[in-house]
Amino acid sequence: MPVLAPWSLLLLSCMTLVDGSAYVEYVEGTGLPIILISGHGGTLSPERDRPNAGCWDGQKCIFRRGCGKTDRTRCKTTRSNDLYTKDMTVALREELCGIAGVCPTAIMGNINRRVLDFNREIEEACFGVQSMIDVYNEYYGYLEESKLALNGSGIIFDIHGHGHDIARAELGYAVTKARLNSGNYTENMTSIRNLLERSPYEMDDILRGEHSLGQYLLLEGYDAIPSPVYPSPSDTSYYSGGYTTKTYGSRNGGSVDAIQIESARSHREMPEQMYYVKALATAIFKFYKKHYTTESETTTVEQTTTIQPTTTEAETTLVTTEGKTSTSMPTTTTTTTTTEAAVVTTKQPIIETSSNGCPKSCLDSFAAFIWGFLCIAFF
Ligand SMILES: *[C@@H]1O[C@H](CO)[C@@H](O)[C@H](O)[C@H]1NC(C)=O
Ligand SMILES: *[C@@H]1O[C@H](CO)[C@@H](O)[C@H](O)[C@H]1NC(C)=O
Ligand SMILES: *[C@@H]1O[C@H](CO)[C@@H](O)[C@H](O)[C@H]1NC(C)=O
Repeated sequence: MPVLAPWSLLLLSCMTLVDGSAYVEYVEGTGLPIILISGHGGTLSPERDRPNAGCWDGQKCIFRRGCGKTDRTRCKTTRSNDLYTKDMTVALREELCGIAGVCPTAIMGNINRRVLDFNREIEEACFGVQSMIDVYNEYYGYLEESKLALNGSGIIFDIHGHGHDIARAELGYAVTKARLNSGNYTENMTSIRNLLERSPYEMDDILRGEHSLGQYLLLEGYDAIPSPVYPSPSDTSYYSGGYTTKTYGSRNGGSVDAIQIESARSHREMPEQMYYVKALATAIFKFYKKHYTTESETTTVEQTTTIQPTTTEAETTLVTTEGKTSTSMPTTTTTTTTTEAAVVTTKQPIIETSSNGCPKSCLDSFAAFIWGFLCIAFF
């Protein structure tokens, strides 16, 4: 069993990977109805850079190469990456696996924002380059598939980074700075519309009050806006949520919400990132527990779950680039199942493996070797 389980997992990961492309990393969830997505942390540049602006046709922007005279006032593109956000997304997933006992899904764009901007509409994102359009569609294809797999309510976190002066997390609910300042907004304008419409808590309580993600992050020692301490941005810089959050959250219906998380540069940098990611994972899990699980579920599970240490399964990280050898890094996270975790573990069985005492790095290199071998042998 200790030998068999990792082997079957490796084979599984290999088969999952075949569907992936070089430029989008997709890590399947194992039962936690949370999707982490990150589009601005990629590094590869398989095509030329996008121009720094599109053209203005009198009514709208045309984002196409050779469209004519570019208009940097109206149709400027943004081409800077959000440093470390891809690593952070991987780390956040690991952390959530540890806390919950089951893992969220993660989708990561692996292309430099200079070439492809995953958080824009397709024209501005790809500038008409077909190979990039394919990658973009793959990225959102995974998101749509993952949303369906949640089979009901769940939440997307779009992981970004800002370079603003104040080092606090900017949480985007698709409510603009002006509306947060004036208070003139309604549930149906937000990217967590489904949650707000079904919840017994007040809108402001969930968005920036005692039961908000901002408050949970404050409790972990990191500033966040909106939150009870910073209910609105006033005249400070604030990102309210971009294309992914507005389009794939519940603003236009559906039962999957979305929140954009823009983390401060200093929190994304190592070694601070380690502490920050732990705090963020704790805050996210608390928010999830509060608003996406029910008390009755908790009660039932508490009575029927035997508490025991389990090893939660693993990663299907795909790291394929342009025909180079692919490697996968199944990692095992040992965690003691708590009753909190049990709420979600009951939805899907955990693959248990016994700990063999092999350090993570050793497992990683062994796994990488075997994985490569299996892929060549089978496909
Ligand atoms: C998802 O929903 C379908 C149809 O409602 C149901 O048959 C299926 O068991 C559900 N899957 C999970 C994992 O809840
Ligand atoms: C509040 O927002 C609504 C919807 O956009 C708008 O029609 C209305 O004029 C706004 N009210 C104020 C006082 O700004
Ligand atoms: C949104 O909510 C407001 C007030 O709750 C309501 O007046 C308005 O009709 C709603 N709009 C839509 C598109 O549902």
